[in-house]
Amino acid sequence: MTGELTVRAEDDIWNGIAAAASGVLGVRRSPVGTVCILPHEPALEAEEYTLRRVDEVIEVRAGAAAGAFRALTRIRGGAGVDGECHDAPAYSWRGFMLDVARWFVPVGELLVLIDQLAERRLNVLHLHLTDDQGWRIPVPGWPRLTDVGAWREGTTTRPAPVEGQPDPRSGDEWGHGHRHDGVPHGGHYTRAELERVVAYAAERFIMIVPEVDIPGHVQSVIAAYPELGAGAPDMPVATRFGLGPSLLAPTPEVERFIADVLDEVCDIFPGAYVHVGGDEPHLETWRRDPVSVARAADLGLPGTDALRGWFVELAARFLRERGRTALYWYDGEVLSEEAIAVSWLAEDGGLAAAARGAQVITADHTRTYLNYLSSERDPNPYACGIVLDEATAAGFRPAPDGAAARVAARFLGGQAQLWTEYAPHRESRESLMFPRLDRIAEALWNGA
Ligand code: ACM
Repeated sequence: MTGELTVRAEDDIWNGIAAAASGVLGVRRSPVGTVCILPHEPALEAEEYTLRRVDEVIEVRAGAAAGAFRALTRIRGGAGVDGECHDAPAYSWRGFMLDVARWFVPVGELLVLIDQLAERRLNVLHLHLTDDQGWRIPVPGWPRLTDVGAWREGTTTRPAPVEGQPDPRSGDEWGHGHRHDGVPHGGHYTRAELERVVAYAAERFIMIVPEVDIPGHVQSVIAAYPELGAGAPDMPVATRFGLGPSLLAPTPEVERFIADVLDEVCDIFPGAYVHVGGDEPHLETWRRDPVSVARAADLGLPGTDALRGWFVELAARFLRERGRTALYWYDGEVLSEEAIAVSWLAEDGGLAAAARGAQVITADHTRTYLNYLSSERDPNPYACGIVLDEATAAGFRPAPDGAAARVAARFLGGQAQLWTEYAPHRESRESLMFPRLDRIAEALWNGA
């Protein structure tokens, strides 16, 4: 049985695909023939589907609208269909993280990016919305976050690499430059713009996972509201990349701030997950701050270093009350028993967290950071750090080799990251993403 819906143009699969989303059965004409979407098959997983060619007609049967969309994406991508085939993703979490804090990324580029992710059958776009160099999301009651925190006076850049000279893109400095360009930069999204991004992504079965990074990487917050920082800091929005000393103070005022921010995040982003950062706190800042020392003691913590986990738990608890699950950057230290560990620096690839029962998303920097050089002799002036080549990206597997099946099952999938310190515009960002993102997306869909 098929429905009556016939979509207008020959290749309207992409635009007409929303019909699949709403569960409308349909017939679509495509360059490879007529496509019939059959009723969803409850025995299939949501993104799982079968394709069957009957003469000039390709029949699509999927577990849910998402599966029909993935099938149509595959057909649109030009994959021929002979006879019958079955397809399903190896991993349920197939993501891409974009850092929109270091450089503001316009909404139009985000929409293009969402199409690019959909074409690669990725299903998560993680937006790193806040960092030392900029705050990109408006929060009612805290206007200075965007009036002040979204803007910086300039950017400290690095020289371009010169053949035969030490490479400014790697080594100790990791390309963190010394030349202040004196060009103000900034921007933030409106709530309506973010809602538009969410809706556009949802039509392509992509979930937006927002990240608000706490308790470190908060120099833009402290520039706007110095009283929220530990140790009474006085700092502008950062103009230089690399690690800074900023940390939130463990005070009731900051707890109110976090609740207000997460409330707004939950209102804008309907997805089940919110990333709360937790990475790279400059612990010395709390150790030297009497207010932080006293509060840590009041809370019964073993010392101020434990405030890192306390902040992540605080956010995770708040999110649970709103029906969401928190994610945090996992570097080998479990910061919350209930949050999902996004493993980026852990030497065991997240195995210890998974063995303790945590769900893990693999974002291991050596295999998923697309801002890294793609070869020893990569001429890309926007790349930095160590080498992540295309073959490594193609071999990406979220679960560490040898993990017991019970533990391996806790690895939900993985995601590629694009940190944008040295990628100030679309051309630079795309030059870093492709083709390594293609390889990671294939690895996440196809598995071993
Ligand atoms: C990170 O790269 N700081 C998660």
